[in-house]
Amino acid sequence: MTTVIKGGTVITATETMQANVLIDGGKVVAIAQGSAQTWAEGAERVIDATGKYVVPGAVDVHTHFELPFGGTFVSDSFESGTRAAAHGGTTTIIDFAVQTKGEPMRAGFDTWMAKAEGNCAIDYGFHMIMSDVNDDSLKEMGALVEDGVTTFKLFMAYPGVLYSTDGEIFRAMQQAAEDGSMIMMHAENGIAIDVLREQAIARGETDPKYHTITRPPATESEAVHRSLALAEVAGAPLYVVHMSAKEGVAELTLARDRGQNAFGETCPHYLHLSVEDDIDVPGFEGAKYVCSTPIRFRSEGHQEALWDALIRGDLQIVSTDHADFFYDDDEEMGRQKRLGEGDFTLIPNGLPGVEERFQVMYQEGVIGGRFNLNRWIEMCCTAPAKMMGLYPQKGTIAVGSDADIVVYDPATSFVYGVDTIHGNIDYTAYDGLEITGKVDTVLSRGNVIVENDTYIGTKGHGQYLKRGMNQYLV
Ligand code: URP
Ligand code: ZN
Ligand code: ZN
Repeated sequence: MTTVIKGGTVITATETMQANVLIDGGKVVAIAQGSAQTWAEGAERVIDATGKYVVPGAVDVHTHFELPFGGTFVSDSFESGTRAAAHGGTTTIIDFAVQTKGEPMRAGFDTWMAKAEGNCAIDYGFHMIMSDVNDDSLKEMGALVEDGVTTFKLFMAYPGVLYSTDGEIFRAMQQAAEDGSMIMMHAENGIAIDVLREQAIARGETDPKYHTITRPPATESEAVHRSLALAEVAGAPLYVVHMSAKEGVAELTLARDRGQNAFGETCPHYLHLSVEDDIDVPGFEGAKYVCSTPIRFRSEGHQEALWDALIRGDLQIVSTDHADFFYDDDEEMGRQKRLGEGDFTLIPNGLPGVEERFQVMYQEGVIGGRFNLNRWIEMCCTAPAKMMGLYPQKGTIAVGSDADIVVYDPATSFVYGVDTIHGNIDYTAYDGLEITGKVDTVLSRGNVIVENDTYIGTKGHGQYLKRGMNQYLV
């Protein structure tokens, strides 16, 4: 099947050009300034992108679909979550398979593969969450790398659940250094946080804002510092997930300045939401935005620091950490966020974003005048693909790359609200935000999957991606 996208402005992380794109067999086979007329004669489909941007499908390297958490499950399944992603111009996700304590990692990987297989609208890969670090799981890391799982997430938070000790973290880092894989770190001092949470509840401080107050910035930056030091000694690359504190970013920046293979991501919700505006509000509404690391106080200057770090490249990626739970009780999912009414420690952690990320970053980054179109593509498409060993198959428009392409209309606008999102969820963190631009058409491996605001793909079109190593490593 041949498709031509003609008349648009092709934008990659490095180029902005008036060009036509020829797609065949799911791949980009030519990009040229002329030729569209000739190509169109033999093509099955011609997409007129005049006046529009033609950009790579976005890559979200941090999602959680169907994750068990806090006594419930993330409300988006692989089916609903990847459809929502497609609506927002994301054509690749990397989700987290979870090892059950006491069981092999392989069993967790197989379980998550089974959840995804035949259900995804877009291509997908997996990181592995290591719940046990021991001789057996360390041996399994290399075998999983062979199967395309080249990243392993460890938690310095959530004692008694997903938490790993420094010794366990260090051993996993040594193994990653040997195998050529990478540790992803949830960097928060969970031991200190648990003390603060217990003390807050004992004082009757039960509102959602105490979730942030009991996770002060130093509990993040201390863990970032400690994990960087451990990685340096182990000689392993480190990727710090969902960074929200300016003090943590400062630690990462220092390590990078020393030449360490250290990387970091933040998420749109940390750039957009604050305790003052969104969490410390009347009633229980603030629970919608309870996640870890937490949304921070605007007055402390974290958002400016995150934007600055993204702009200068000390944070390389914007991902979503999509982990959504219904605010109001749902017929299918039951009680979710409201589990924590009267006790913030029982609010399931996480919020939606897989659909919104690409367009929110366009609005707040490009339209907001913080960076240009190429940097938007770099943060949301190219750097994620390179960091997770998927480039140039994903994350760019180049001859030979998968034809994962978004036609983006800068002349249309819309407002985010519960009626303009498509996931299995009853709110958006960007309610009321006007986007002056809009995803128009989305192709995954050459197939049109979203058109006229409608998902027209086929269930199970998404394929598992065997990933290589981090391509930023020197
Ligand atoms: O609040 C969060 N981040 N929920 C998802 C699990 C995690 O730690 O990434
Ligand atoms: Zn985490
Ligand atoms: Zn996460």
